[in-house]
Amino acid sequence: MSRLGTPRLHLRTTDSTNERAKALAPRAPHGLLVTAAEQTAGHGRQGRTWTAPAGEGLLMSLVLRDWPELLPLAAAVAVAEAVGPEARIKWPNDILVAERKVAGILVEGRSQEGWAVLGIGVNVAISAFPAELRDTAGSLGGVPADVEPFLQRLLALLAKGLNAPSENVIATWRERDALDGRAVTWNDGEGVAAGIDEEGRLLVERPDGTTTALNAGEVHLGTGPPA
Ligand code: BTN
Repeated sequence: MSRLGTPRLHLRTTDSTNERAKALAPRAPHGLLVTAAEQTAGHGRQGRTWTAPAGEGLLMSLVLRDWPELLPLAAAVAVAEAVGPEARIKWPNDILVAERKVAGILVEGRSQEGWAVLGIGVNVAISAFPAELRDTAGSLGGVPADVEPFLQRLLALLAKGLNAPSENVIATWRERDALDGRAVTWNDGEGVAAGIDEEGRLLVERPDGTTTALNAGEVHLGTGPPA
């Protein structure tokens, strides 16, 4: 099995490292890494965009030839560990520090073709956010020279975390749960977040006392319609 991060393609600028990795994936070895200093069309979950000034964020995509069942959660745990003890995870895999999002994860793939792409963006040293992100995004407060050491630390944590048993992933994820006990809304209702189950689904207690397990999608903090 090849190492995570080898071979590596580093681009000064590209549309999206996930798009580059997906194009390479059908013939790429496990662990191939695409990084870029800048993306012109970085994207995230739920149709979001991902932006970062050149050189100030970690923009990476790994091609995986085998991966754990709970890949999005395992990756979130590794990113949170790389960020530090203050990092929390907002289900399923947004990384928060002091309630601000500092990292995001986008898993794409074709399991029938035997590959997945794990895309990660980390705001290591972002000097300024666009107006629409100013209230919700955060930076780790580093400098551009911190991006590469952060990547190396993260690759080591991913190598360990993607091979961990599911029970350990769930247990470490739960220790960093940003939503536990908090009021949340989602497109179909509202309730109080009550952790994740063994399959990584978010459990939510509804006002009528029933519990719902959310599989995918987006939850928002607070009651009422999402801001
Ligand atoms: C999210 O929070 O919605 C996920 C964001 C993922 C962003 C990263 S940046 C590197 C890689 N390339 C992309 O286009 N997206 C991911």
